Amino acid sequence: MTNTVAIESIQKYEGKEITIKGWLFNKRSSGKIHFLQLRDGTGFIQGVVVKSEVEDEVFETCKKLTQESSLEVTGLVQRDDRSKTGYEIVVKSVKPVHIAEEGYPISLKEHGTDFLMENRHLWMRSPKQNAILRIRDEINLAIRQFFHERGFVLVEPPIITPSSCEGTTELFGIDYFGENAFLSQTGQLYAEAAAMAFGKVYSFGPTFRAEKSKTRKHLNEFWMVEPEMAYVGFEENLKVQEEMIEYIVKKVLDNKKIELKILGRDLTYLEKIKAPFPRITYTEAVNMLKEGNFEFEWGDDFGAPHETYIAEKFDNPVFITHFPTKIKAFYMQPDPDNPEVILGADLIAPEGYGEIIGGSERIHDLDYLLQRIKEEKLPQELYEWYIDLRRYGSVPHSGFGLGLERTVSWICGVDHIRQTIPFARTLNRVYP
Ligand code: 4AD
Ligand code: MG
Repeated sequence: MTNTVAIESIQKYEGKEITIKGWLFNKRSSGKIHFLQLRDGTGFIQGVVVKSEVEDEVFETCKKLTQESSLEVTGLVQRDDRSKTGYEIVVKSVKPVHIAEEGYPISLKEHGTDFLMENRHLWMRSPKQNAILRIRDEINLAIRQFFHERGFVLVEPPIITPSSCEGTTELFGIDYFGENAFLSQTGQLYAEAAAMAFGKVYSFGPTFRAEKSKTRKHLNEFWMVEPEMAYVGFEENLKVQEEMIEYIVKKVLDNKKIELKILGRDLTYLEKIKAPFPRITYTEAVNMLKEGNFEFEWGDDFGAPHETYIAEKFDNPVFITHFPTKIKAFYMQPDPDNPEVILGADLIAPEGYGEIIGGSERIHDLDYLLQRIKEEKLPQELYEWYIDLRRYGSVPHSGFGLGLERTVSWICGVDHIRQTIPFARTLNRVYP
């Protein structure tokens, strides 16, 4: 019996005989040799079957292998500098598990994205998609490690909620036993409640926006990590954000080298990411845009071209702080020195990947919160529990939300967010 090993740890087995359990990604054959492109989920490697060096039956079996057949391959691990993993397998024996039907939909030629999305359940097997989702896993883990190491408690908010938080126009409604309910847009309000119980918390889960946008940056279902911190103000909030981003990028650079190579990611951009990040105020950003000949008025919200223009001036992500109060959510704390603007910031990723974080200090004063709820015409009775947090031991507190898929897009350098989540939900797609 030989060892079954994962392709990702193949380097430990140089010169040894091993078995790989996986699938045939592709095959090239001549009369004398088969090159089997193998994958096992952890990586990709080439198996070489030389006719003169294996039993006839092994060589004949390889002839029958179709694309995506599942199989067990046993052979010798050998260095090969041309391969992405640095190794190949000199095959001794092959045991098919399932010979795949002919006509696997995803051939190695170019396909249109619509076709690939229709076949997402198969597309995710291909090297680039696999690399993106493995980097997503690393980012997921890095985020959890970052908060766990700093004493944050993970608290899961509900997904079915009675009210909105980020704006009523973007809610997916559901019938909750005859009552109106909604899929959660954000876990923030619940995270605030938890912060008053545990001090430092984070939630990490799916969120839903019924946005009819068809951009490269919008999903209707996406994952957000939302830390919330009691006794923390505007400044410290930004510090946690930049430290978290630096931490995530470093983990990916350290642990996902092969995947970044498969994606052809230019690492020089990622290697420059170092906290502290530059900060500009919203007003400064508006002036930059005007100098760049954009038609933009103080009080307008940024669109993608504006964010890209500003981001291009910096190597690191850039904080845009002190947005106008009237274009931001009801819970954001206005600056006491100038209540026209809030004590919050968006973090804009480099290279045109747009806003990856939105965050702020929260209003902790009861009367002021009530006033904002009225101004925004929100139904106060649905927010009573949230208002209670200002009745019983209210303290200054802050938090933010990082969009997981936008972060994966940026770090992987992929041009469309639909590739960064296993099964994307977009304006015109709920299948597969
Ligand atoms: O700026 P947003 O809407 O902020 C909130 O929801 C706050 N409650 C967060 C908080 O303070 N706890 O969303 C936060 C982030 C954005 O910066 C972006 O990265 C991502 O979530 N995001 C989206 N990602 C993909 N598709 C969409 N439609 C997104 N909308 C927001
Ligand atoms: Mg935002």
